[in-house]
Amino acid sequence: MTAPAPRRVEPSNQVPVSVTVNGEPVDAVVPARQLLVDFIRDRLGLTGTHVGCEQGICGACTINIDGEPVRSCIMLAAQVDGSVLTTVEGLSSGGLNSLQQAFKEHHGLQCGFCTPGFLMTLSTVDPDEYPGTDGIREVLSSNLCRCTGYGGILRAVRDAWNRGDDE
Ligand code: FES
Ligand code: FES
Repeated sequence: MTAPAPRRVEPSNQVPVSVTVNGEPVDAVVPARQLLVDFIRDRLGLTGTHVGCEQGICGACTINIDGEPVRSCIMLAAQVDGSVLTTVEGLSSGGLNSLQQAFKEHHGLQCGFCTPGFLMTLSTVDPDEYPGTDGIREVLSSNLCRCTGYGGILRAVRDAWNRGDDE
């Protein structure tokens, strides 16, 4: 009598993910290799998070995960199970917040492609940890803008963070 062939169990390529996104609970089953940015944009329809370099360099895809700025193009959706996420759509509950208003008033954007990433990075850091203009420059150095030359962005952050020109 021959032994029965061992049962072959294929690994599942779908994983459950439970997160809070902009204050709303989300339960989903995602492909194990789905990028977080694709989950946010394609599954949740939150297209304010942009995709630029797809290599973790430009910062356009930055969102807030548990209070930290994170590049969603180099993370998997499966990695954020149990986390609290904020995207640019969740930055303000109505109208523009002070940072967004300052970007608008100081021409801190042109095409706007980079803007959500800048806003998410800036809204996640503690301004007191980045004093003076050099501190603002240090924060801005994590994100790339191909349009503005950064002057308008710098002025916007100075205004939003209540800093004078000469700091
Ligand atoms: S698209 Fe993610 S860092 Fe550029
Ligand atoms: S405003 Fe166009 S890339 Fe920054």
